[in-house]
Amino acid sequence: MRSLISMSDLSKEDILEILKLAYQFKNCYTNNNLNGKVIASCFFEASTRTRLSFESAVLRLGGKTIGFADSNATSFAAKGESLIDTLKIISSYADALIIRHPLDGTARLASEVCSIPVINAGDGANQHPSQTLLDLFSIEESQGRLDGINLGLMGDLKYSRTVHSLVCVAKLFNLRLYFIGPKSLRIDDDQLFILKQSGVEYSFHLEAEEVIDKLDCLYLTRQQKERFTTGIAESYQINLDTLKNAKPNLKILHPLPRQEELPDEIDSTPYAYYFQQAQNGLYVRQALLSIFLG
Ligand code: CP
Repeated sequence: MRSLISMSDLSKEDILEILKLAYQFKNCYTNNNLNGKVIASCFFEASTRTRLSFESAVLRLGGKTIGFADSNATSFAAKGESLIDTLKIISSYADALIIRHPLDGTARLASEVCSIPVINAGDGANQHPSQTLLDLFSIEESQGRLDGINLGLMGDLKYSRTVHSLVCVAKLFNLRLYFIGPKSLRIDDDQLFILKQSGVEYSFHLEAEEVIDKLDCLYLTRQQKERFTTGIAESYQINLDTLKNAKPNLKILHPLPRQEELPDEIDSTPYAYYFQQAQNGLYVRQALLSIFLG
């Protein structure tokens, strides 16, 4: 049984093993690797996709879940119990913990104080590793390969944990990155430093039109307004005109939920892939849990 806190916990071989098994789950393979296991699903922050696909994956693998989707109903929020005490108590009732929390580093803290494996379902603006696994699955599924993809990352690159997890694997899969969006939402310098040190090629662009003819995948993110510390950022959006010079193989990905950056008019184009991407979350999480907790 293993924890998953950050994408840097995974080797390329680990990732490829999870993706390979996820393809099998998508093709109707099943197993009972979590039979007899109780998995705590504790979401201190709102979620639709991550929580429900993880919980569905546990049930489909023969396990059972306990937990909460609203921490206001716990003694942590209502009676002032400390987070560390809360995590220790949860770990005495379950065989593994899936946790989402609004503060960076909480999943790592949980893995240090809990006696059971911890799966990070998103901690603040830091990491969302299971999202990256399903993003990689969707890139490979839609492109027929993972290596050497031209990947546009557009929107809130400063606060989006899905972007921060995804850039961690850029070197492993030789991704060429195009950062697109307002300057105020650019990815932080410490992450750029790591990319530069590892030889990842990247460039900055204000609008998607500047590079759309080069991209295999365009990964959009919403403004993470719940994490903004100052004011409102400049808005950004794609539309049908943005895609006029797109390569035929372009696929648009988005971790969802979406806002104005991804209007409904894109849904009926051959470029839209975000609903398949969200569905892939189930198969990838089945594979992850089967390997890590089975
Ligand atoms: N992509 C994602 O994390 O969605 P939820 O916030 O709905 O889980």
